[in-house]
Amino acid sequence: MRRFRWFVLGGAASLAAYWLVRYLRPEHSPLVLNQAVVIVTGASSGIGRAYALAFARRGARVVLAARRAALLEEVRAEIATYAADVLCVPTDLNDDAQLERLVQTTLERYGRIDILINNAGIALQGLLQNHDPSRVREMVSLNLAAAINLTRLCLPAMLRQGSGVILNVSSVGGKVPNATAPAYAATKVGLNAFSDALRRQLDGTGVRVVTVLPSYVDTEMLSPLVQDYVRDLGFTIDTPQYVAEHTIDELLKGEQEIWFGGFAVRAFAWLERHLPFFSTLLQRALITPEIIALTEGRLAAAQTDPQGAPQ
Ligand SMILES: NC(=O)c1ccc[n+]([C@@H]2O[C@H](COP(=O)([O-])OP(=O)(O)OC[C@H]3O[C@@H](n4cnc5c(N)ncnc54)[C@H](OP(=O)(O)O)[C@@H]3O)[C@@H](O)[C@H]2O)c1
Repeated sequence: MRRFRWFVLGGAASLAAYWLVRYLRPEHSPLVLNQAVVIVTGASSGIGRAYALAFARRGARVVLAARRAALLEEVRAEIATYAADVLCVPTDLNDDAQLERLVQTTLERYGRIDILINNAGIALQGLLQNHDPSRVREMVSLNLAAAINLTRLCLPAMLRQGSGVILNVSSVGGKVPNATAPAYAATKVGLNAFSDALRRQLDGTGVRVVTVLPSYVDTEMLSPLVQDYVRDLGFTIDTPQYVAEHTIDELLKGEQEIWFGGFAVRAFAWLERHLPFFSTLLQRALITPEIIALTEGRLAAAQTDPQGAPQ
């Protein structure tokens, strides 16, 4: 019993020392956001919209990309109240020609690209056998191939400049693959691997690769019912504004991975990496068939339609 107590105390002390060192570490990035040219994908809503506003507020020249042109114009109008330079490029990122046009238009207007934020993404949740195959292709293409290809197109300019940041918006689901969304998790695990491998490839070039790992964020992606469930479990739901502001703080500190969701999420990730068996047990306890039905929207349908009981 005494040994166990010492073991727990020792563990807690090491953890505290680790966090203190991380907190005090004098890391600074030479990145200057004023006048930086920042491409934000998925800028029409949620986290991407918040990134566009937050970077513009710091003097960056933002390029807004997403499909819904009217929403991009709304973001542009909001930014125009405090920053003059913003470019809207309505883009379907699943179309290679439109990816090229996005990069060309940016270079023609500004002559450089300082930050690429690969943020656009969609999430299919629920039972894999219920997924629509064309939506699966669309998701894998958008979350992974579009981010990789857009990075590929932006790299020559960044390498010429000898500086640049590729900011990949992944998910903690890419660290702890979640039973509610196996196909989505695969795209985010893939994006994390892409970030890690590319960071190694670009070592010494002045181009940084940063992974952002949001946990739960109040956007169109997370239905109100799922948000309620997540809150009941004690997880925090961040606002997109918080995600954007915290990302910028950490980016300027020089971080390579920017985590959200607090201690609980880091503990889950640790468990997943070092004791995956316990991670599986935990998910078995937390993620019931009803929860999976809820993420698919089947439970919501059942509540309003007595015929549509959850499977
Ligand atoms: N919300 C969360 O809890 C959460 C948690 C972890 C990670 N994330 C990640 O955060 C990122 C942003 O998601 P969000 O929560 O802000 O969701 P969101 O509000 O639904 O935003 C998704 C964005 O992607 C864009 N998009 C979708 N398909 C596109 C396409 N084919 N071409 C161009 N743009 C496209 C959408 O714009 P259009 O429809 O106008 O094209 C929209 O602006 C995603 O990568 C997501 O995986 C979110």
